[in-house]
Amino acid sequence: MTNSPLFPLWQVDPQEYNAICAYLDISPQPQLFDKLADYLLQAPFVFTRPKGFALFLAKPGLSKFRIARLDMLSKFLFRDHPVRFILNAVIALHECDGKGYVELSAAPVGWQVPFSLLRWGAGFVLSLAITMVWFFWNYMKYLIALPFQAKNDLSGKRVLITGVSRGLGLEILLYSLQQGADVVGTVRNRQAYAELIAQLPETAPVKLVIADLSQVNGITQALQENQITSDSIDIAVLCAGIKHSDTSVLSLEKIRETFQVNCFSSMELSKWLCCAEHKTSLVLISSIGRWHGMHSSAGYNAAKSALSIWGESLEMELYAMGRKDCSIMIVEPGIFESGMMKKSASSQFLFASRRKLAERIICGALAGKKTLRYPYWFALLTWTICLGGRNFQNYFFARARKSIGKEQ
Ligand SMILES: NC(=O)c1ccc[n+]([C@@H]2O[C@H](COP(=O)([O-])OP(=O)(O)OC[C@H]3O[C@@H](n4cnc5c(N)ncnc54)[C@H](OP(=O)(O)O)[C@@H]3O)[C@@H](O)[C@H]2O)c1
Repeated sequence: MTNSPLFPLWQVDPQEYNAICAYLDISPQPQLFDKLADYLLQAPFVFTRPKGFALFLAKPGLSKFRIARLDMLSKFLFRDHPVRFILNAVIALHECDGKGYVELSAAPVGWQVPFSLLRWGAGFVLSLAITMVWFFWNYMKYLIALPFQAKNDLSGKRVLITGVSRGLGLEILLYSLQQGADVVGTVRNRQAYAELIAQLPETAPVKLVIADLSQVNGITQALQENQITSDSIDIAVLCAGIKHSDTSVLSLEKIRETFQVNCFSSMELSKWLCCAEHKTSLVLISSIGRWHGMHSSAGYNAAKSALSIWGESLEMELYAMGRKDCSIMIVEPGIFESGMMKKSASSQFLFASRRKLAERIICGALAGKKTLRYPYWFALLTWTICLGGRNFQNYFFARARKSIGKEQ
């Protein structure tokens, strides 16, 4: 059983599956959960994505109480709601299984029939009353939240993402697919290509391109060889990054590689994209670490600093040229779990949710946001430390590196 669904809008995790079984009064079966997971993996590319209030109701996780409400609402009002497909799939899978069939087809006999009908009728009326109250309560919440809701529909858009084999790049790829995008993702080599293709459903509209970003112009050449044109890209998220930990900032070879992957490859790709006369949203993944130095990281912070400042400079140049069709968003995240950063018991409270970050990045790009710092309190904390002066920074970051998880 996988614990974390790739497409949470459509799939369920084992706890949610257990809640559905409890609601349907059937026993959860691990082998059926696996089949359910396989089936629902295709859902984002087969069924219509919910919108508006239906989407609002689809967001939070499923409990037995929510399933009961959504079951009723999706029968009468929101026929395309994800919960309808999930419930239908669970029932169909259990009906095809011996034990499941017995449980689902169990019916009262003899003198139990009238009592069961009465109980069922009373239960239905009570459930309808609760569902109506719940519906109006949630509709009020939806109306209040409506002015603050960010656009996140990527239908008809093509999103290019670098470094999709794992970490944040993979998260953005999955979120983009869930939101209806056609995705072009880059991976470093054949092995990463094969591993990722095996994870994704065949129906997913994704094209993977192999590109080694440590090679000069490696990214643009690979895209051209794969007949990807710059005017077909609506949003480009330049996410791939490398960090050599425990490597001196005097290790020039490693620094060159770090700058090539983290900085120059993004510049190469930006140039390729900006040459097209096409509305493009460029997202540069920098780091909040760009605000301060860091020892033993082979110039990672310096490369991110260069990327942020270069991104601002590009924006100024495009503005001066009257190019309003290209927007640039510079993302400076705090820390999140990935191949680059591992959580430790003492530092886990500092880690942001990678999934939420991916969502913020896509919503920010759609809204034409210029800067995204997530979580913002992490940026405030960093700036406060920077205000303490270089001696304080030396002391603080030397200690912080020891306690925060090791990278790569
Ligand atoms: N994690 C954090 O706390 C944090 C904080 C701030 C900013 N960031 C930034 O967020 C971005 C994503 O990082 P992450 O944490 O998700 O890291 P990650 O898990 O280590 O993923 C890095 C990605 O970049 C790819 N990559 C590295 N070198 C490459 C190369 N030479 N050619 C092609 N692809 C290459 C990796 O491919 P392989 O799988 O082949 O290695 C992988 O897909 C990076 O730009 C990073 O600097 C991370």
